[in-house]
This record gives sequence, structure tokens and C-alpha cells, in this order.
Amino acid sequence: MQTNIHNSKIAILGSGGREHALAWKLAKTLGQESVFTLPGNGGIPNSHPMDIGNFDAIKAFCETHQIDYIFVGPEVPLAEGIVDFFNKTSIRALGPTKAAAQLEGSKVFSKQFMQKHGVSTASFQAFNDIEDALDLVHQMDGDLVIKYDGLAAGKGVYVCDNVQEALDALEEMQQQYGASCPFLVEDKIVGDEISIIGFTDGNAIKLLLPSQDHKQLNDGDTGPNTGGMGVMCPVPFWNEALAATIDEKIVQPTLRGIQAEKMDYKGVIYFGIMIGTNGPELLEYNVRFGDPETEVLLPSLKTDLAVVIEACLDGELASIDLEFESGYFVDVVQVSGGYPKSYKKGYEIKGLNQVQDAIVFHAGTKIENGKVLTNGGRVLNVVAQGTSLATAIDKAYNECAKVSFQDNFYRKDIGQRVYKVVSKNS
Ligand code: GLY
Repeated sequence: MQTNIHNSKIAILGSGGREHALAWKLAKTLGQESVFTLPGNGGIPNSHPMDIGNFDAIKAFCETHQIDYIFVGPEVPLAEGIVDFFNKTSIRALGPTKAAAQLEGSKVFSKQFMQKHGVSTASFQAFNDIEDALDLVHQMDGDLVIKYDGLAAGKGVYVCDNVQEALDALEEMQQQYGASCPFLVEDKIVGDEISIIGFTDGNAIKLLLPSQDHKQLNDGDTGPNTGGMGVMCPVPFWNEALAATIDEKIVQPTLRGIQAEKMDYKGVIYFGIMIGTNGPELLEYNVRFGDPETEVLLPSLKTDLAVVIEACLDGELASIDLEFESGYFVDVVQVSGGYPKSYKKGYEIKGLNQVQDAIVFHAGTKIENGKVLTNGGRVLNVVAQGTSLATAIDKAYNECAKVSFQDNFYRKDIGQRVYKVVSKNS
């Protein structure tokens, strides 16, 4: 018997700001008591401890709590086949099967898919041995990108400017994965990077608003890469012509490829796109929601997320028209001092109850003796909406200043790089 999601319970898997945003959005229409998060964090109501790599334990939890739907936040359980596992049960798990999840899990697989199906992307060569790539590195003067094939928690991509940097990257990869590891060498594209994230049921793709992550630690896009220091949506330079080009050169060829390869893909699809001198080109697919992108995308989505999930699972996504809130959304991420390297945990977070004009999505937090404590590198997301990007930025920073914990750190220029460009040109 087919279940109706509005009379059902759902379990979200994951523990970050992305999962808090998912739980917040689903609770609006399903009710808080019907939305469980495994393992969740200190800010997500109805969080329960869980090893999300243990599919049998998740199944047992769902049976005990009469949960009929699962929404998978991070990529690792998808790459390990969680959807295939639950497809053999009566619990409906949204996400690509293990075979389809290779679009994120294997960079070589995904680039070969892009090439085969005419998706606009940079030229590349695949290798299985570091020695074999040395000639190419010299021919390209080291001005290239090296990507380890497998999942690497954001650490397997090396953007190089010269031969020495490329050789250092190969050396680091060799130490990490061995000399005979699969990897890619590809042309470097310089430009504006955006995240285009949507849903698919294998018959259609429906996109959310375009967003832009701020990956580097410090203002002015300097310092080491992180899991994202802030994000905005929509991007101010978005226009119909850009949307049409991305649809024609990236989104539709991807959908045709999914169909031609007979992939069983019902879930979230994320296009990491660089807009360079040749127009938009696809850098990578992810097969799940982005973090921190989700923290602005879900507040900006008017449509009931539960309806979208059910439509994806039923193969009826084409019948849904996504609707969006007006204005701009900005998320400033507060991190622990020292992140992305080593940092201390366990500091009390103060001022959360002073925040009035923003949503706070928790990431690395926990509750102990009634206090909210830091429990990770990425601690909180402060998300504000404004009629203009400038007002969204001001609001986010005003509210951010009300929250504090020892050694907290956040960028002061989220959204401003593009905003300055737009002001200059307008
Ligand atoms: N924001 C980048 C990612 O989720 O992979």
C-alpha cells in the first residue's frame, strides 16, 4: 500500500546545518513530532544518536518509530548504497542508487558521463598512475586542476598555477592514496562559481534558486578552503539568458544522460558550475544538497518540501511548479577559532535567544546541562532575508553579532564580492 507523506514520519540522516534546514522545512508541513533527525545536533528538535553508516540500525530505528520515509543528507551513505538497501524494504528513501551516486563518488565516472552525453565541461585526461601524468603536467606548465577520483571530503581537488604546485599535488595525492590511484588532470577554468541545485525523478529536473558558496576561510576569498563560510541566493548576476544556457548545455544533457544510462535517480542533483570565458561549464556533480547552500535554499522555497519529495519518489516531479520567496537570502557561518585545522569544543554559545530577524541553523552544537555548547568546527548558520542583497547582508551581520562563544570567527564579506561587482556595473 502506498503511503501518503503528510500522514507519515520521516527520518533525515546527517548532523549539520543542512540537516537542520531540512528538519525545519519539513516540520512546517509534517509537524515537528513527525520529523526525526539521525543523529542531528544540539539545535535540531527530535535528534537521535545514530551511526548513519549502519543501515540495519537505521532500519531498526525506523521500524520502532514507524518511519516510512528517509531523506539522506550527506554523500557517503548514498555512495555506499543506502537507497538500494531501503529499496528492498517498505521504507521509501529519497536519493540516487549506488550506481547513480557514482556521479559524485567517482570523478572519472562523472567526467566520462559528461563527455559521453555532451555536458559542457573542461577537457580532461584520466590516469591510474602518477608517473603517467608527468609529461602532461609539464606540457601544460602546471596550469591545471588535479582531482582524485574518489570521495575525499572536499580535499581531493588541487587547483595549480605552475609545475611545482602540480608536482606537489601529485606527491600529496601519492602519500594519501598510493602511486597507483585513479585521478584526473583537467583544464583550469577561471570565473564565477555558482551552485545550481534541484530535484530529479529521472523524468524531469526542477531547479531551486541559484546560490553562491564562499569556500575560503578569510575575507576577500583568501586562506584555506573550508566546508563553506557563507552563501547567498539568488546570485545577483542571474538572468534569463544565463539560465537558458545552463539549461541547454548542462541540465538537459544531464537528464538525457541519466535516462540513456537507465540510472535509478530520484533525489537531489547539484551542479557545481564555473562561469568562465567560454560561458558556464560543469565542474562537478553532487548527488545531495550542498552545505551551506541548503540553509538559504530551503528558506527561499515556498513550495512544501514534503510534496516535492513524494513527487520525486512517485516519478511525478513534472507536475510540480516550484515557488520561491522574493528578495535575497544570506547565510553567515560562525566557526570555532582554528577551523579548518584544529579547534577546541565545549564553549557555551550565548545570545541565541536575542536573534529576532534571522533563522539560526545549528551545525556543530550539543546541549549539556541545559546549555548550548560548541561541538564542531562549523558551529552555526545565521540566515537572513532582505528585499535587496544589501539589506539581507546587513540583517545577517546584525543578528550574527548577537551570538557569541569563545574564539568564534566569521567572514565579514559574505555576499559582497558579487554585490560590489554589480554596483560597479549598474
Ligand atoms: N557547498 C559545497 C558542497 O556542499 O559540496
